[in-house]
Amino acid sequence: MPQLSVQLNRLKLANPILVASGTFGYAREMAAFVDFKQLGGIIPKTLTAAPRIGNPPPRTVEASSGLLNSIGLDNDGIDAFLAKTLDYLLGLETAIIVNIAGRNTEEFVQMAAKVGQHKQVAGLELNISCPNVSGGVDFGTDPRLAAEVVSQVRNACDLPVIAKLTPNVTSVVEIAQAAAEAGADAVSLVNTFQGMAIDWRRRKPILGNVIGGLSGPAIKPLALRIVWQVAQAVNVPIIGIGGIQSIDDVMEFLIAGATAVQIGTANFYNPGLAQQLVTELSEILTEQNCQSVGDIVGTLQIPAR
Ligand code: FUM
Repeated sequence: MPQLSVQLNRLKLANPILVASGTFGYAREMAAFVDFKQLGGIIPKTLTAAPRIGNPPPRTVEASSGLLNSIGLDNDGIDAFLAKTLDYLLGLETAIIVNIAGRNTEEFVQMAAKVGQHKQVAGLELNISCPNVSGGVDFGTDPRLAAEVVSQVRNACDLPVIAKLTPNVTSVVEIAQAAAEAGADAVSLVNTFQGMAIDWRRRKPILGNVIGGLSGPAIKPLALRIVWQVAQAVNVPIIGIGGIQSIDDVMEFLIAGATAVQIGTANFYNPGLAQQLVTELSEILTEQNCQSVGDIVGTLQIPAR
């Protein structure tokens, strides 16, 4: 049996298959479909310092091979999560990576300090990339701000820190470099691509927030390209995200340079997919004569021209 565990600096995962924030709720609703302990980890929906009701409906619309959403970080706030939900998640025998979004560095730091008191939490993912809230991507589009929030969160708690980055910039490499230099244990690449949908007969946008974030298979080639570019340029473990729906997709991200992956939009129509991919990963690594996941990470060969 190949070794499935992966190490992303201080974050160790039993296997590289995670479920992405915002696509798996707080896990309770998935209990009938998934044996949680088979997963590499669960990243619950983004938490904010105060409860948020989110954006006006409609909040989702199907696109060709994808999903546009503008949820607007609807959540009960970090205090309710810590009081009512975290214990349940920590009992699931898988890595729990808490995802937080602050409106400013101070909020990130305060939330990180609160989560950091719970030593069983496996890590913190910083959502510096939400396209659907005012100010949500400021941190992720400015290397200086990205570095500041990562380094201050690192000072505020001992948990491994992952920066989840936006693709809606000219160079994700530059932001990833800044996050890595500031001490991020890993970067998650990528959050959704800004997009919109129009009901042309009514001359109206379909989403209540007008624009939203596109996810799903439509973005896979774009995400793969970014993972590969960052892997070439920045010495930081990468968690690949973007339209993964098969073991071939997982292998493409690993070979492009990701050490782990997140399953996102596919959870909405196949909640058992992530667990199935763990089994299939073991089988395909055996078939490929690999001893471990590390044997294939970043093994893309570019033909000489
Ligand atoms: O609108 C949302 O809640 C989406 C969050 C995200 O893409 O990070």
